Amino acid sequence: MKTCSKEQFIAIMKDRHACKLFDSSRKISEEDLNYILEVGRLSASSFGMEHWKFVVVHDENLKQAIREVSWNQPQITSSSVLIVILARKNLRSTDKYIQERFEAKGLSGDMLNGYLKKYSDFIDSRTDCEIVEWSKRQTYIAMANMINGASAIGIDSCPIEGFEIDKVENILNIDKDLFTVSIILPFGYRVNPPKNKLRQTIDEVVYKI
Ligand SMILES: Cc1cc2nc3c(=O)[nH]c(=O)nc-3n(C[C@H](O)[C@H](O)[C@H](O)COP(=O)(O)O)c2cc1C
Repeated sequence: MKTCSKEQFIAIMKDRHACKLFDSSRKISEEDLNYILEVGRLSASSFGMEHWKFVVVHDENLKQAIREVSWNQPQITSSSVLIVILARKNLRSTDKYIQERFEAKGLSGDMLNGYLKKYSDFIDSRTDCEIVEWSKRQTYIAMANMINGASAIGIDSCPIEGFEIDKVENILNIDKDLFTVSIILPFGYRVNPPKNKLRQTIDEVVYKI
């Protein structure tokens, strides 16, 4: 199925930029917000474990509180909406969430046990910290899809990693046994045109063997 040309996709990638200030008078429609969330939901993840949860923040007081513990970045309060992506922590093979995800695949008997064994070998010897890092990596796949998906319909964004994690988790009342905050994504409409894309050349980043 081909629904987008190479030129169109590159144009979407080029127009997507880390938007530093949004026009706070312009709001994203519910339909467009749901589209961005659906793009996140459809993202690929290792073992298909869908490591994410998307917290949608419209409340201006909450946005202000998050800004205060996120290097005072104006993208946060000028945005139309924040999507905070949480990364799941309960990912050991014995965790109920994992058992449910494997059951959802419709596998049974030897197939299910074989897949669970492979997963267990992959994950269970890791430290809690390593598991969280693995989980966060998966959420970044959703993030990338969401910011490019938003760009495709003319919506701007800015991934934000500059925040005090404990404080944001407290503001959002996150269950810290199950989740951690991975990334904050403000969405809205730009005030200023983007700067020229600063990237290394293709030869600097590609090594063909
Ligand atoms: C994971 C991640 C975290 C980021 N955190 C911040 C941030 O806290 N504040 C900010 O202004 N930009 C942040 N950025 C934006 C980058 O600085 C930006 O993507 C990069 O400079 C390239 O510019 P461009 O996205 O406009 O092409 C982040 C980007 C990524 C991918």
